[in-house]
Amino acid sequence: MKITVIGCGYVGLVTGACLAEAGHEVVCTDKDEARIELLNRGGIPIYELHLDEVVQKNRRENRLTFTTDAGEAVRAGEAVFICVGTPPLENGDADLSAIDSVARLIATEARTPKLVVEKSTVPVQTGRQLRQALAVYGRKSGLAFRVASNPEFLREGTAVEDFLHPDRIVVGVDDEATEKELREIYQPIVEGRFNCPVHDSECPPQGPPEFLVTNINSAELIKHASNSFLALKISYANAVADLCELLGANVQEVTRAMGLDPRIGPKFLGAGLGFGGFCLPKDVQAFIRLAEHAGMDFALLKEVELINKQRIDRFVEKMRTALWVIKGKKVGVLGLAFKANTDDTRFSPSIDLGRRLLAEGAHVAAYDPAAMERARQLLPGISYAGDPYAVAEGVDALVIATDWPEFAALDWEQIHDVMARPLVLDGRNLLDPSAMKQQGFEYHSFGRPE
Ligand code: UGA
Repeated sequence: MKITVIGCGYVGLVTGACLAEAGHEVVCTDKDEARIELLNRGGIPIYELHLDEVVQKNRRENRLTFTTDAGEAVRAGEAVFICVGTPPLENGDADLSAIDSVARLIATEARTPKLVVEKSTVPVQTGRQLRQALAVYGRKSGLAFRVASNPEFLREGTAVEDFLHPDRIVVGVDDEATEKELREIYQPIVEGRFNCPVHDSECPPQGPPEFLVTNINSAELIKHASNSFLALKISYANAVADLCELLGANVQEVTRAMGLDPRIGPKFLGAGLGFGGFCLPKDVQAFIRLAEHAGMDFALLKEVELINKQRIDRFVEKMRTALWVIKGKKVGVLGLAFKANTDDTRFSPSIDLGRRLLAEGAHVAAYDPAAMERARQLLPGISYAGDPYAVAEGVDALVIATDWPEFAALDWEQIHDVMARPLVLDGRNLLDPSAMKQQGFEYHSFGRPE
């Protein structure tokens, strides 16, 4: 099928590239001209595993093109996927102005009726508003647009894998024709009928994903409900970690045993500095606001947010207890991305921590395997080092703020030698406390006996 993707950020670029990989003819557009130019020169604006190869391969095979001519892009596709940002407004509501502009664009530029698919994360009932906007903006042409919701469940770092091997595909539709069209679009993915770039041409042996058809409101709600539940799991684990500290239990033993119950599951029970990134914090906030608008106080999620906000305070208090005075001390920070395997620093707990340490009067040096460039813009007051050993040089404390696996594999003996004081504060429970102690470190983490 011919598909248009509007918005070439994380979601749009992965969606466009993977739909092309699945055999469709995809045109992507973005109002950021520099981004489109870069893509047309064979560059890639974001760091995402396998994305570069999928983009380049499909460009070469002419299934994936990029244009700044949004009108031409709209006219090219039978289905138009909206993948623009919906960042939080000051009051926590999602900013839907980009969706509104795209609705105007589609309605005024289209010459034939289109299926308009919301991929961006939006509050419930946006579909209704979108349909109305398309009708109002397109009243002169009188074209009938159909609207569907197709939320994405992509994790940064594994987004290509998540798109090509999803555990579920959710489509919210109003009519059978739309369902049929979306089934057709996703059929190659449901059947694994493409050369798998993630697993060297063979898809992993796993059952086909569930293709779930719901009404549009449900599809929109599923996204917020899923992300908020993931956030809830993390905050729950963090609260349990705090209790473990008070009562001498070990949070990793506790959550491991909890996770063996299939009703709970082992994932997203990792205690530490809490959740960040551009999705979980904003989606929890938007879900709280959405409930408020609907007349419900979602107090449970307010607590989830509060527990998460307090993670940095707790960590700084741990540091204060260990260092006595933070002001004037040299602190090294390993990790700036909001999680491992990404260069994304948006709403990263490590960046918040860095700011907090600066405010406390510490001298901060940091290193991240992928996110230095982005961090420099958000956190200008610190120094950046070329590798973890340089960060550790002469510091009074070394902090692990992101769970990059390579930090666990460092030569900790060497680090011990270069630190002014061998104090490690592990904000991601990445290292083994007894091994660290054996190597002569003073070591603190979350919810584990010291
Ligand atoms: C999240 C969801 O996991 C995806 O399913 C969803 O599609 C995506 O948002 C989205 O809405 O687009 P992502 O933001 O890439 O994906 O990151 P996660 O892997 O969910 O991690 C979020 C944060 O939680 C990170 O800061 C991570 O360090 C933290 N985390 C995660 C924990 O603190 N503990 C855990 O056990 C797991």
